[in-house]
Amino acid sequence: MRTTDPEPARQLLRWYDENRRDLPWRRDPSPYHVWLSEIMLQQTRVEAVRAYYERFLARLPDIQALADAEEDVYLKLWEGLGYYSRVRNLHRAAVEIVEEHDGRMPPTSKELLALPGIGPYTAAAIASICFGERIPAIDGNLLRIFARMTAYERDIRSGPAKKAAFDYFDGIFPADRPGDANQALMDLGATVCLPKGAPLCAYCPWQSGCAARKLGTQEQLPRTAPKKERAIEEKTVFLIYYDQQLVLRKRKETGLLAGLYEFPNAEGNLSRAKATAYLRSLGFDALRMQALPPSRHIFSHREWHMTGYQVLADEWREFLSGEPKEHELFLAGKSDLEEVYSIPSAFAAYQKEIRKDYLR
Ligand code: ADE
Repeated sequence: MRTTDPEPARQLLRWYDENRRDLPWRRDPSPYHVWLSEIMLQQTRVEAVRAYYERFLARLPDIQALADAEEDVYLKLWEGLGYYSRVRNLHRAAVEIVEEHDGRMPPTSKELLALPGIGPYTAAAIASICFGERIPAIDGNLLRIFARMTAYERDIRSGPAKKAAFDYFDGIFPADRPGDANQALMDLGATVCLPKGAPLCAYCPWQSGCAARKLGTQEQLPRTAPKKERAIEEKTVFLIYYDQQLVLRKRKETGLLAGLYEFPNAEGNLSRAKATAYLRSLGFDALRMQALPPSRHIFSHREWHMTGYQVLADEWREFLSGEPKEHELFLAGKSDLEEVYSIPSAFAAYQKEIRKDYLR
């Protein structure tokens, strides 16, 4: 039988009891709350998540409400957080929980893993925090702490590194407070064992057992293999005002930013002449056209380098009405822009340029 040295867990939990962060989802850690927070926190900083978390719960307070919600409602609540597949999966999983689990979150990491959008990290976080399962939740914080504690020199993002980190924490995890142990490690990673070569070792409850600190390599760890370069795509974005409304387009239902709404845009950084020709191809005659500032948006695997134009159109030959279908243009007024259509943050620089006084 494996014997566990209880001392590291004791030191960690003592540190947590004195230093834990006061976070909204820790005040009432129901499975729905913890699940929502973990999904939001996957690609977004804690400080940015707070307001989104409160607003989401105010509108969709429980799993049933989420399962019943219309797509535009939960997409709008996610606007600005990015990685929208997260909220689509959240909704799909809520439907599955209602239909197949009586509306209650299943309590084991194994069952949780079978739900859409729940991977090993999230399953372990929910199972340990809400249901007391003894399982480490391996995220970037735990990987970094593991790399420094054991002076692990290989690529920390690889499969073998994740397995080694899991085994390492499995060897020291307490049976009585596994959820607190995971959250302690998340807090330790976020406030003490900091990334980018800047750990605050003097404040660490594990400083005496840290192999990297003994070797003096804590600032070089963890190691990562170089990432592939991102593809660069140039685009020209159009804010087109017609009949005191703004022209929007629904994106395709698959691929990047699927099913969200965007300002019409074309490949390449278009000159005025080419931009005018493009507008004609959409059916518009421009009465006035003004350049907007360039902007960039970085996705995980690509970058958009954008320029833009603000356009006052006096004619639109291909006016369409009714429910927008994918890749179709349609008109949105001021309140629809604010309340209905979710426009991804990639367009934030142009969203800021919208002239509200041109709209009804
Ligand atoms: N990051 C991701 N999940 C977290 C949690 N539950 N507490 C603190 N930071 C986190």
